[in-house]
Amino acid sequence: MLLAAFAAFCAASCLAQAYGQTWCGKNYMKTSPVVPPGGQFPVPAASSQPLLAFRCEPAIKPYLPEDILTPSSFIIDTPITSSEVVGAAPISLPEHGSLGSVAVTVSVNGRPLAAGLVPLNATKFELPFTLVGLSPRTEVYDVTCAAEYSPGLLSKSQKFSSTAALSLLPDPPDGRSVTKMDLRTGALLAKPATGKGGSYETVFPIGFYTNFGGYLDSNLTLLNELAAQGFTVVHPVPTFDNLTALDLVLDRMQELGLYLMYDMRWTYMNDTGVTEEVNRIKNRPNLLLWYTGDEPDGTSDPLNATSHSYDLINSLDGYHPVSLVLNCENYFFTEYTSGTDIVMQDTYMIGNNVTFSSQWDTVCTPDYGDCGCDNCKGEFEDISTRMDDFAERLRDDGWARTKAVWTVPQAFGGDSYWKREPTGKEYIVQSVLGINHGGLGVVAWNDPTPADIKASASALALALPTMKEFILSPSASFAHIATGRVDIGVWTVDGRALVLATNLNYAAATVPLAGLPGVKGKSVKQVFDSGASFAGGKFTFEATGTGGFIVG
Ligand SMILES: *[C@@H]1O[C@H](CO)[C@@H](O)[C@H](O)[C@H]1NC(C)=O
Ligand SMILES: *[C@@H]1O[C@H](CO)[C@@H](O)[C@H](O)[C@H]1NC(C)=O
Ligand SMILES: *[C@@H]1O[C@H](CO)[C@@H](O)[C@H](O)[C@H]1NC(C)=O
Ligand SMILES: *[C@@H]1O[C@H](CO)[C@@H](O)[C@H](O)[C@H]1NC(C)=O
Ligand SMILES: *[C@@H]1O[C@H](CO)[C@@H](O)[C@H](O)[C@H]1NC(C)=O
Ligand SMILES: *[C@@H]1O[C@H](CO)[C@@H](O)[C@H](O)[C@H]1NC(C)=O
Repeated sequence: MLLAAFAAFCAASCLAQAYGQTWCGKNYMKTSPVVPPGGQFPVPAASSQPLLAFRCEPAIKPYLPEDILTPSSFIIDTPITSSEVVGAAPISLPEHGSLGSVAVTVSVNGRPLAAGLVPLNATKFELPFTLVGLSPRTEVYDVTCAAEYSPGLLSKSQKFSSTAALSLLPDPPDGRSVTKMDLRTGALLAKPATGKGGSYETVFPIGFYTNFGGYLDSNLTLLNELAAQGFTVVHPVPTFDNLTALDLVLDRMQELGLYLMYDMRWTYMNDTGVTEEVNRIKNRPNLLLWYTGDEPDGTSDPLNATSHSYDLINSLDGYHPVSLVLNCENYFFTEYTSGTDIVMQDTYMIGNNVTFSSQWDTVCTPDYGDCGCDNCKGEFEDISTRMDDFAERLRDDGWARTKAVWTVPQAFGGDSYWKREPTGKEYIVQSVLGINHGGLGVVAWNDPTPADIKASASALALALPTMKEFILSPSASFAHIATGRVDIGVWTVDGRALVLATNLNYAAATVPLAGLPGVKGKSVKQVFDSGASFAGGKFTFEATGTGGFIVG
């Protein structure tokens, strides 16, 4: 989130000077002509023949020496598709009967690490392997995966291949912390942020972009409050002009067990700056992840800037993932996302006119204008659509397992484009809609935020330790249901399900509890309440109400 902050105390000419006259590649000044922005993600061509988009990835990134004796697995995906996505190849399927299986071999340097039969059209099929025999090193191991398919006894066998990277790093220097990614779910795994030992646990990052100058830097008690409110992560907003104050903030966060999302928005295109900052911060035990471009697509930063900083950060650290936020609906997604492990979206649709720009006095169209929410309709579905589009593009690019999507709820308003602040319940609708559509982190712009939003966000944060056991479980099966603008995510683990449901209507709604596949018991226990309840076999929602329930 950048434009809002600037628009608040910056005249039109100042913005235009700072960023040229485009946002998401679109002209937005009244005097500028309409010029198509370009940069749209190419819709994959439709194939007349079925295609196999064969993919393989190790379950964990990175592995460490301590993992060598623990059995692990490669995740194999064998979707049959008719879209010409990256790496998909034609397959001849039997005309009748079952699709059968492919024989998969996973190798490093020609040495087989794993092999087995994998059903066709399967998701997240795991083939066990062991790291024994591989030496820890900084460079990744290049993995080759081969699949062979014979639809019938007499048919010619068909061959498919895919590649992956296996990272088995040496023990981190100086006792540096490590954040791993579970590629089965996209979840982050880390030891407690206090740095006092403990084991790797899934982390559900929930917190705020938090003002530093004039806020965090002058009141460390704020951090005690954030920890007590259940937040897991703090994302201080640079600049960090006083490094002594920054150290005090980061020390206090560590004492309190709060993870750090470290923001380099102003320096990520400056190699000297990145080098200084990464070296200053990388040994902090509570460092969870790095953050580079803040809406680089909005400002049309050079297309190679994010991947360049990604490579530099990895060469200086390599033990923590990298994140960034994209603001545009569809502007050079692949280029900017190539330089990140986590891509966030910040679709701010509350309180702004998304078709006519209050700031620039122009219409907003797919080719023109800036209304503070790119190509939006001004409804909550803007968020779920954006999440779904990002997930689909990651799949198309072959990155579905190696990159995760997080959501940035709007927790501000009353300035520039956004004429009012969201309510606490609207903050929850935005957050839960993000989670139900695959979001694995919720980091809102920005703290300070209204007390109502903070209280609602805290209630969600305090419920997440229970809910993450479902959302971040590698064995969860997920179903998504949308009915009458009630958006429902169902994660089923071991015969019990988390039902997370949010009512997008500004009116009450009810939804009957239908039988959930794989769920045995019928008991319903509410674990999160933002204006929803369960009674008489039905979920009842207030206007923009949301609830979390464990069924079974
Ligand atoms: C593959 O699975 C998808 C999703 O379950 C299903 O819709 C599709 O029909 C399957 N394709 C084939 C060829 O069986
Ligand atoms: C510091 O933050 C705490 C917790 O939010 C608050 O109670 C207190 O009033 C703040 N102090 C100042 C001086 O702003
Ligand atoms: C920097 O922060 C420290 C710790 O809060 C404070 O003591 C010092 O006065 C600050 N320095 C400046 C120049 O503001
Ligand atoms: C890049 O960062 C270095 C180190 O912080 C700083 O001295 C220099 O002025 C920065 N360069 C630019 C162009 O901002
Ligand atoms: C990025 O690409 C531009 C050309 O578009 C090139 O001049 C520049 O050197 C590249 N930067 C990096 C860091 O690779
Ligand atoms: C947006 O602004 C235009 C022009 O003032 C107005 O006609 C339209 O009704 C507004 N839309 C919303 C949803 O407020």
